[in-house]
Amino acid sequence: MQLSRIFSLFFVLTLFVSTAVAGESIVVETSSTALVFNVDKSGKLIQSYIGERLLNKSDYEGINSGFDAFPTFGGKHTEESALRIVHGDGNTSSELVFEGVSSETADDVTTTTISLKDPAYPVKVRLFFKAYKKQDVIEQWMEVEHAEKKDITLYDFASSYLSLSAQKYFLTEFHGDWAQEMQMEEQQLVYGTKTIESRIGVRSNQFAHACFLLSENQKAHETEGAVLAGQLEWPGSWQLRFENDRLGNMHVISGMNPYASHYRLPKNTVFKTPALLFTYSLDGTGTVTRRFHRWAKQYGINDGKRTRLTLLNNWEATYFKFDEQIIKGIIGNAADMGFELFLLDDGWFGNKYPRNSDHQGLGDWETNHEKLPNGLGCLVKEATDKGIRFGIWLEPEMVNPKSELYEKHPDWVITQPNREIDTQRNQMILDLTNPKVQDYVFSVVDNTMQQNPGIAYIKWDCNRYMTNAASAYLKPELQSHLFIEYTRGLFNVLDRVRAKYPDTYMMLCSGGGGRIDYATLRYFDEFWISDNTDALDRIFIQWGTTYFFPAMALASHVSVVPNHITQRIIPLKFRFDVAMSAKLGMDLQPKDMSEEDKQFAKNAIQEYYGIRQIVQQGDLYRLLSPYESRRTAMMYVSENKDKAVVFSYLLKKTINGERTPLMLKGLDPQKHYRLREINRDTKHYSWFSPLEGKVFSGDYLMKYGLRFVMYNEYDSKVILLEQAD
Ligand code: GLA
Repeated sequence: MQLSRIFSLFFVLTLFVSTAVAGESIVVETSSTALVFNVDKSGKLIQSYIGERLLNKSDYEGINSGFDAFPTFGGKHTEESALRIVHGDGNTSSELVFEGVSSETADDVTTTTISLKDPAYPVKVRLFFKAYKKQDVIEQWMEVEHAEKKDITLYDFASSYLSLSAQKYFLTEFHGDWAQEMQMEEQQLVYGTKTIESRIGVRSNQFAHACFLLSENQKAHETEGAVLAGQLEWPGSWQLRFENDRLGNMHVISGMNPYASHYRLPKNTVFKTPALLFTYSLDGTGTVTRRFHRWAKQYGINDGKRTRLTLLNNWEATYFKFDEQIIKGIIGNAADMGFELFLLDDGWFGNKYPRNSDHQGLGDWETNHEKLPNGLGCLVKEATDKGIRFGIWLEPEMVNPKSELYEKHPDWVITQPNREIDTQRNQMILDLTNPKVQDYVFSVVDNTMQQNPGIAYIKWDCNRYMTNAASAYLKPELQSHLFIEYTRGLFNVLDRVRAKYPDTYMMLCSGGGGRIDYATLRYFDEFWISDNTDALDRIFIQWGTTYFFPAMALASHVSVVPNHITQRIIPLKFRFDVAMSAKLGMDLQPKDMSEEDKQFAKNAIQEYYGIRQIVQQGDLYRLLSPYESRRTAMMYVSENKDKAVVFSYLLKKTINGERTPLMLKGLDPQKHYRLREINRDTKHYSWFSPLEGKVFSGDYLMKYGLRFVMYNEYDSKVILLEQAD
């Protein structure tokens, strides 16, 4: 009796599924990309095609790759599996057959749901494909649910399994560490499995980013060649596997990392994976970048159409050493220089344990009375009076053991019982699987906002990853859920924050770029990609990042020289020219600047306002890679191609002059453009002078190029192109 009730509940849940379409192809497509499935005679779902969309749908019918669309462990499949379940009765195998397909379309976005079931067990799997027609990207994720008597245990639970067939495969991965994020490395993949992953639960991009470019037959190229590119939308532990099988096929398996994360699923509970965002192009990596960026501005980041503000941050200016007068001085200078917002960083809180270093006070979110006797409110007012907005730094997921919060709630931190506490940056992680901790973390944000009306911006930081991973809240038999439930807890909090504060600007930070992905960025307006503000290093970091994430969200700050991390001395102009190619900010004490530098900065900030729309909303075209050339260049083109801005940097001195023509891209060949150098260094002769004010057609600039010589290390040029007719 009870069993039949369970089954009827199950079928109610799946009623929307239409009847099977045996023999017909299931086509998931955008304007240019297609992913096609069919069902074989045994009922198995087959991925028959991935690639550029074919003009005639009927052409898909003849293709039969034989690729299992979502292989499970235990059947005939011998390669990596997408799903591995141990059933309630101990059976370790699963088989999936096609049950039905349905689709829904709204605003050019079609979600196709393919339902699969195990013929021998009441287990259902749904594969979701959300195709964004105009932006040419697809999101894929998976749900599993069952009606077995006992819990089932999931050991593998991929979001997506995509198969390609080519002669050769070249993988570009994006790895690094603190202060050296998003370093690109390309390698040919030969037989076997290459895994890129994070096992650290939070701040999961500290060593690598869940992003990839997989190029077929040749190394990835900007304007040509077949490339599959993806980003896993998950800030917890993640895994990307690339399996080159014995027949030379490539399978890309992505999802939450199953490492130490087997998941016990009770009956009638849905287990949902994050989505892989991907696209496929025959026109190289430039095309996939522009697709990701357009999608991000529409769907992937918070309010992608609104203008991002310039800001001055006091972190590198003061670190923990400041008081009300110092901050007021910086606010005044920020306003005077033309910034739109002042961001107060770490160090403003804690009384029993004043936050005067990173050793204590984290978790005690009460304004420090000594440094700020009149509270944050007085600083918000100061900023408002000076005509700029005010932002605040928070790290609400974390705690120093030396804090009142820890004294009150030692059971709230993630740590293994009977093991020595392991701190990083002297801090521990609060256990977000615990609903009480979620309430607390929300209240940190809420109280700060309520007690200080007028705060316009929050920098949300997260400065360590998980070790000693255990939760006092989760039952002993569910400890392996920690990595997954932590992230779900974080999203619960962020949902609440965004519901209450939809208009607040939020910056995603994790000791630099330790947490950047499109699930989290939906709550955030921008991200801090690196604590390394050295402009030369930033060129590489930003180059890698912008393959997937748009410049409008990439905060890039001018800081002092010698740089605090690298000790490198780079001219102010170069530092501005790099920061202005993304979202401009500053991280230094303005009162320490010379009058001349201040004047230059003021002018540059105004110039940034002139190009901000193009940089933040335009299309990115990469011209010369810093990985391949001493001179690097890229440009943004406005949507209707009436404006563009070109950035070019010389990374090393060239005795005879570096003359590589900049073959511009993305312009309208019919339009004519007037050239103007901005941020010009008036003290020295500019080798751009002969071209200043000249008008050229887009055709000329793209076929003959923009030609000017550069000589000196850290020479940089920013050229604005404006339609002249
Ligand atoms: C992290 C951030 C920095 C700064 C400090 C403050 O390292 O990445 O920008 O906010 O924390 O402690």
